[in-house]
Amino acid sequence: MASILMVASEGLPFIKTGGLADVIGSLPLALTEKGHEVKVVMPLYRKIAEKYMDELYFDCEYTVSINYQEVPVRVYSKMVDDVCFFFIQHQGYFERDTLYGYQDDGERFAYFQKAVIEMLNQLNYWPNIIHCHDWHTGMIPCMIKETHNNDSRYNAIRFVYTIHNLAFQGNFGPEMLDSCLGLPYYLLDNGNVRFDGGISFMKSGILYSDKITTVSPTYSQEILTSQYGEHLEAVLNMRKYDLWGIVNGIDIELWNPKTDPEIPYHFDKVNIKSEKLKNKLALQKELGLDENKDVMLVGCVSRLTWQKGFYLLMEQLDALCAAPIQLVILGSGEKQIEQKFRELENGNKGKICFYQGYNESLAHRIYAASDLFLMPSLFEPCGLSQLCSLRYGTLPLVRETGGLKDTVNAYNEYDKTGNGFSFEKYDSNDLIHTLYYAIDVYYNRKQDWDMLVTNALNSDVSWQNSAKTYCLLYDELLNQ
Ligand code: ADP
Ligand code: GLC
Repeated sequence: MASILMVASEGLPFIKTGGLADVIGSLPLALTEKGHEVKVVMPLYRKIAEKYMDELYFDCEYTVSINYQEVPVRVYSKMVDDVCFFFIQHQGYFERDTLYGYQDDGERFAYFQKAVIEMLNQLNYWPNIIHCHDWHTGMIPCMIKETHNNDSRYNAIRFVYTIHNLAFQGNFGPEMLDSCLGLPYYLLDNGNVRFDGGISFMKSGILYSDKITTVSPTYSQEILTSQYGEHLEAVLNMRKYDLWGIVNGIDIELWNPKTDPEIPYHFDKVNIKSEKLKNKLALQKELGLDENKDVMLVGCVSRLTWQKGFYLLMEQLDALCAAPIQLVILGSGEKQIEQKFRELENGNKGKICFYQGYNESLAHRIYAASDLFLMPSLFEPCGLSQLCSLRYGTLPLVRETGGLKDTVNAYNEYDKTGNGFSFEKYDSNDLIHTLYYAIDVYYNRKQDWDMLVTNALNSDVSWQNSAKTYCLLYDELLNQ
């Protein structure tokens, strides 16, 4: 069994801005249950410090060179079940209002990665595999292979790099190569790290890792094309025989309608019908929607960005308002989208609710109370929201892309199969047509709707199968 260090920029239960955090909070545990020793390392953000500082164990301190100066690093840790989480502390870099979006993000995450590499030496901890996630960690394989190749302890490490979202690449100016990463300029000349005149953390991760994974089989194929490849399709095609698509799971204990402390009425397959209605009435009351158990409630919990297909929705606001549904949207993000949804709510009080913000607890109640979950993404590497909604017997309506295609099976009225609804083309008419189709099934084919709900509840959204596939990947890597 292998010793694995996961490196990521966020992870539950400590901090979350998106699905990456869910994965880092649940995959290590699933792998531990399969016999691997898994540790995780991430930055010590302000929110983590505020909540957990008293519970953290101080491991060590040292310095790394950034901008030709020695910058201090302190490492702390905390166990969560059998998984050890390390935290890299630097107040200036990480104890800020938000996690990302600063003009010095390149420097911040160069520092983080350097600190992680030196942490191994300081703790005399030598994992068999370093599993890096997304651009924030993409330089680690490159830095270790290029600058520690004479050290057999570093040399023995194998690298897995998981792409959660190719759209965010970590592209920075070339000067950082020397000043922050301590790498030679010939890596720019030979193209290994070069992208568009600067350097790309994402590209480096793809080229220098021993195996690359992404978070669904369909997305692993899509990113080889120019439509989804974000200008890295040629690089990905070079590595396509080492690229695996492994669909994400969710923590089925955290997301469990039978025990969820965030929802007022617990349910399972037997009593979902009556209890979902009670959850619906409770949510309508909580959010100021008309209290009506018979109306179809459509939910949406999302970052409000172009990725998630909201522009499609906006093309069809009239049809949306005319539909015999209630709509609740929880999310924050692009101002333009927020503004549109605010207007929509104002013109449709009692029928449409836009809750602007990030609210973990409310998200659970929306998954539990809704009948349909809307996720018409332009692209979706995996998507976890549709998995959460399946777990709560809420039928996802999705576009057939990435992980949505791999996890949602469209209702087939002839052979009576499916666990949701889907459409293929990124076209707002197709979205509305599918929505109205779902509405018809909800009101007029109740038996079929109930069958779909049962299928949703029977869908395996756990890590069971995917954790096994990661184990195969690690085995293959270590036996090469
Ligand atoms: P992404 O990582 O691209 O945002 P995913 O579907 O993989 O999309 O994961 C999103 C996760 O974040 C889900 O667990 C979802 O419930 C949660 N989430 C998204 N927006 C919000 C919000 N506004 N409030 C609470 N949870 C949210
Ligand atoms: C990214 C993707 C999302 C995926 C998540 C976790 O945020 O946008 O589709 O589910 O990572 O892998």
